[in-house]
Amino acid sequence: MTHSGGIERFIRPDLVTFGGYSARKSPETLEGKVEVPVENIIKLDANENPYGCSPRVSQALATCPDFNIYPDNGQTRLRKLLEGYTGVDAEHIVAGSGSNQLIDLVLRLLISQGDEVINCVPTFGIYRFSTELCGGTLVEVPRSGNFAVNISAVRAAISGKTKIIFLTNPNNPTGTITPQQDILELVDTGLPVLVDEAYYEFGGETVAPLVSQYENLMVLRTFSKWAGLAGLRVGYGLFPPKIADYLLRIKIPYNVNVAALVAVQESLKDIDYLMSRVKAIITERERLFGKLEKLEWLKPFPSQANFILCSVLTGEAIELRQKLQDKGILVRYFDEPLLRNYIRFSVGKPEHTDALIKALQEIGG
Ligand SMILES: Cc1ncc(COP(=O)(O)O)c(C=O)c1O
Repeated sequence: MTHSGGIERFIRPDLVTFGGYSARKSPETLEGKVEVPVENIIKLDANENPYGCSPRVSQALATCPDFNIYPDNGQTRLRKLLEGYTGVDAEHIVAGSGSNQLIDLVLRLLISQGDEVINCVPTFGIYRFSTELCGGTLVEVPRSGNFAVNISAVRAAISGKTKIIFLTNPNNPTGTITPQQDILELVDTGLPVLVDEAYYEFGGETVAPLVSQYENLMVLRTFSKWAGLAGLRVGYGLFPPKIADYLLRIKIPYNVNVAALVAVQESLKDIDYLMSRVKAIITERERLFGKLEKLEWLKPFPSQANFILCSVLTGEAIELRQKLQDKGILVRYFDEPLLRNYIRFSVGKPEHTDALIKALQEIGG
């Protein structure tokens, strides 16, 4: 039986034209489309950790006996472990299947149709994605020339419908740090402020110790970047206890899987090892920056994270991305109002930097 309008008439009207999130391509989808075997692809497009996870994680997962049992829905052990790592009491902590899931949960908790979310653009795309999925309205406040958050413009953008202000520290894709006093100026508005510290371990600045002092300050972190666990999907947030309680109530049951729990436990036993990798990435970031600066047709921006954003001064970023992909090097390009013709390189191992620079020299501006 057919009806006029088809199955789409049952879809939420505001989602019929929803574009979705443009996630990065997995190397296996490029089989035969690049000049190198898939296993030789250099992935510098999603700010993953080129060194992988701690060897302790792989060993523990190989012998974990618990995969047939659901994880603890209340995340008791996980939250206690995260209390040890962050120094913030477990009652403030909620873990998610990646910090992306917590962005989604916080917005589900706060946003009803038409509520406003302040976003300091250019920034991470998921804030827009999840806001729109929740029926919220994104209010975009452009960052200033050097990508600093424009605090007075954010304050001016606040309306009776504002439900949350997003700050990313360091920011993706610009690598910029927002000073603590600027963050606190926005916290003083009394509105919920979410500081996404996905790259904290690379930048070293955090407002985590302040979470217990405010009713409206939230911090998000992840194990995807510093601990090399992007594929296992585990992140966490530090929230005022009341917000944490609500989030625990509205989250899907068992949202962090057993493998992720084991991986967090083992990673936190191996912090020195993982931080030595973080240090290697920071050293490599500075070496890559120096080499990019020498290419006259790219303008790199200083970064406190594990990636470097560049303005492409000659040629098209989209073509550059494609030519690098043909050579088996995946990078991210941007062509949007505040990032016209930009490219972002995640920091890899020294040999990845060498291959990238060689390819850039061959391609030219
Ligand atoms: C600023 C920012 N927040 C959150 C995430 C997502 O992290 P996760 O893998 O924990 O979902 C990313 C990933 O690139 C990011 O750049």
